[in-house]
Formats: sequence, structure tokens, C-alpha cells
Amino acid sequence: MKKIEIISATPQLLESPFSGSIMKRAVDKKIVQINFHDLKNFSSSKKKQIDDYQFGGGSGMVLMIEPIFNCINFLKKNDKYSEVIYMTPDAPILDQKTSNKLSISGNLIIICGHYKGIDQRIRDNFVTMEISIGDYVLSGGELPAAVLCDSIVRLIPGVLNDETSALTDSFQDNILAPPVYTRPSSFNEMEVPAVLLSGDQKKIENWREKKSFEKTKKIRPDLLSK
Ligand code: ADE
Repeated sequence: MKKIEIISATPQLLESPFSGSIMKRAVDKKIVQINFHDLKNFSSSKKKQIDDYQFGGGSGMVLMIEPIFNCINFLKKNDKYSEVIYMTPDAPILDQKTSNKLSISGNLIIICGHYKGIDQRIRDNFVTMEISIGDYVLSGGELPAAVLCDSIVRLIPGVLNDETSALTDSFQDNILAPPVYTRPSSFNEMEVPAVLLSGDQKKIENWREKKSFEKTKKIRPDLLSK
């Protein structure tokens, strides 16, 4: 069973995204184990301090090296990990290729930053991969960690009921997914494209491919040159 360990200063922020839907189903099916680790429990200071002012001055607190170091060491004593990932906006942006790779890797440690980030020495010496979820800054790495986990977990075989459905997602072939419709076929004079009701599977496939291509060309032409 794949293990994902998430290290956070505010683990309560992680609860809701993991308590429903696909990720909960994967945990319930024992396909993946996801554990939250509260940094405060790994601080050796009396006051459970986990952050401090940055050397050289400047606003904002930095997560200290010692609690993160202790937590990583604690985890590595019991298990092997393929990657130690740090969620941060100053990193390469997550894409489907990365999620695919991580879905078939071994166990993962994910570190959530907070405030101004984490002591650089953790990044230099323990982190093996850094991931941003987009060019905008969030208050912490918890939501990005949930985004990353969701994108990974849904790709693990056995998690989705209809296994082909992950293969036809947007981005799987650097192309956006085609439009989808469900019943009723006519609603207030808004009609579902006739081809989808034709029963001709070959025609339907051709239509979907055409729509995918048109949509990608219009919205994300950058994907077509990849
Ligand atoms: N932490 C704060 N903002 C982030 C982002 N855009 N991606 C990953 N981690 C973050």
C-alpha cells in the first residue's frame, strides 16, 4: 500500500479535502494510506516553537529546520520514501506527467510551507522535488498538498471505478477533454449534439477528437506544441 505522509504546521486545514470523495474511497479501500503530521509534535522546545524570524531581517516568519528534520527522520526510520516533496510557489508547476509519475512511485513525504516558507537547509539537504500548483501565492501548502494528492491518488489502479475514465481526462495526451452531456437530450430548446445520440461509436469518437482539438487550439494552444 502506498503511503503519503503530509507534514504541516496546521494539519486541521487538511481534514476536509481528504474526508470525502475519491481520496477517502482510496483510503477506505486500503489502496493508499495518508497520514498528517503536526509539526508542533516534533519541536523539542518547551513552547513547541516551530517558526522564527528570518536571519538578515525582513517581514514574515520561517518554519524552523529542527521540527521538520525531526519529523522526516521519524518517518524514515520506519519506511522508505521515493520522494520528499516541498509545496511552494517558487518551483516547477504541477502537470499531468508529474502526477502520473508520482502515482506509480513508492511512498511520498509532502512538506507544506507556511508564512515565508521553510528554512532553506531543508530544501537543500532533504527535499528531492519541489512543486507549485500555479503562479499565485496561497497562505500555506496545505491546499496545494491536497491538490497534488487528489491528482495522484485518482490515477492509482483500482481507485476509480471506471478505470478508463482517468485515461480520457484532459491533459492525459496534452489535449483537453471534449464536451460531455447527459439526460435530458433536449432542455428548453437546448439540444445535445445529434451525433452523440446516433449510436455510431466511430462517428462519436471522431466528433470527440475534433472537439478536443478545437477546444485545445482555442483555449490552450501551448499544449499542442508540447
Ligand atoms: N504555497 C503557497 N502557494 C503555493 C503554490 N502556488 N503552490 C504550491 N505551494 C504553495
